[in-house]
Amino acid sequence: MSENQASLTAGGNSVDMPIKSGTIGPDVIDIRKLYGQTGMFTYDPGFTSTASCDSAITYIDGDEGVLLHRGYPIGQLAEHSSFMEVSYLLLNGELPSQQELADFTRTITRHTMLHEQLATFYRGFRRDAHPMAVMCGVVGALSAFYHDSTDIADPVHRKISSHRLIAKMPTIAAMAYKYSVGQPFIYPDNKLSYTGNFLKMTFGVPAEEYEVIPAVEKAMDRIFILHADHEQNASTSTVRLAGSSGANPFACIAAGIACLWGPAHGGANEAALNMLKEIGTPDRIQHYIDRAKDKNDPFRLMGFGHRVYKNYDPRATVMQQTVREVFDALKVNDPLFETALRLEEIALSDPYFAEKKLFPNVDFYSGIILSAIGFPTTMFTVLFALARTVGWVAQWNEMISDPGQKIGRPRQLYTGPTARDYVPLSDR
Ligand code: SDX
Repeated sequence: MSENQASLTAGGNSVDMPIKSGTIGPDVIDIRKLYGQTGMFTYDPGFTSTASCDSAITYIDGDEGVLLHRGYPIGQLAEHSSFMEVSYLLLNGELPSQQELADFTRTITRHTMLHEQLATFYRGFRRDAHPMAVMCGVVGALSAFYHDSTDIADPVHRKISSHRLIAKMPTIAAMAYKYSVGQPFIYPDNKLSYTGNFLKMTFGVPAEEYEVIPAVEKAMDRIFILHADHEQNASTSTVRLAGSSGANPFACIAAGIACLWGPAHGGANEAALNMLKEIGTPDRIQHYIDRAKDKNDPFRLMGFGHRVYKNYDPRATVMQQTVREVFDALKVNDPLFETALRLEEIALSDPYFAEKKLFPNVDFYSGIILSAIGFPTTMFTVLFALARTVGWVAQWNEMISDPGQKIGRPRQLYTGPTARDYVPLSDR
């Protein structure tokens, strides 16, 4: 990386700090020596101007609406690739040969089965438990079942646990859905694709042959691609921070799932569809636009806005096209799609959204597709977590295999009381 200098004058001291450049994107000012040289910290709650790491996995240009995975544009991957191929790319850095893809897919396929004891674990939950609560618990519990792949210093262990996590998430997700609807768990079918197997485990029943609809399988696989990774978002940063302490990969991914659940992050797909259902018909849109603009109203348009994208989220573009494909394949329509299209049109013509550069994000249209395929809204974030697991695992591996990585330990601006003596209870 090329180096030049930034200088900072603080408290009468002038400090020179190196500027580092990546291959593309903003340069960074290396402030690691700042505290030692000035006794001061930088201050950046929400990390709006902070790069937390080096990474070669995903690049986002928020102003241009660009998303690259190992250099490949998301639009090209969504059109030409598969989730298994994108998973290989994220993990290994290059597109696989035919043989490499076949070997990788076979390895993942043969890890899809869960330890049978985990089925009992599900039965400890209430049937109406939110599937994200179930997924958090079950993934965290995996470390209790797969002790033979938790030595994070061993690249072989890291590879096995990575494959196990990617492979078992569809089974865990499908079982969470089956448990919630009181239907029997369906075991993995190794004859099917990764995504076809997931659809069968979710919607198949023992009494009937389940036929995977190719157009739905393709749409679902594309949705997984669109959710696979996204730079240092909140849940990926959570996984990295948990991993920096040396926690086992199953615990780190469970932490990422917990973070993703929030409505400001991965929970927005569930919130966006619930919002569209609450709006109902296009004539009610303006009322909700007005609420979203009202500083005194906490309501926000769910599925709109993004910390990085100040242009159209390229994933939302593909998602909107996929709605039409799924509707055609299933010969269904959903009036909420028209409401969503109209909401987007009205919002994007409103100066408030234009000035704040608020565009639809990946979560705005995904719920309409998932609902048409048959998923309840409570499963939407589970599907996001299923797909994002490969990104979390790739980012975790990148961090753990960096010999220079340290435990993440931010500091603070302290605003509490100065030192004071304890007052005995009798004197209070
Ligand atoms: C994901 O980081 C990632 O990459 C995440 C993700 C991934 O793949 O991992 O892309 C997935 O999480 C997508 C985002 C899903 N979340 C939502 O759709 C929830 C609704 N959107 C927001 O709450 C919000 O836009 C965030 C959380 C996504 C981004 O928030 P920021 O960057 O912290 O921006 P902000 O909250 O400071 O908002 C800036 C301004 C504010 O107004 P002012 O205080 O400047 O007057 O824009 C307003 C906000 O009030 N604003 C919105 C809005 N989003 C921001 N106003 C109305 N509706 C919205 N959706």
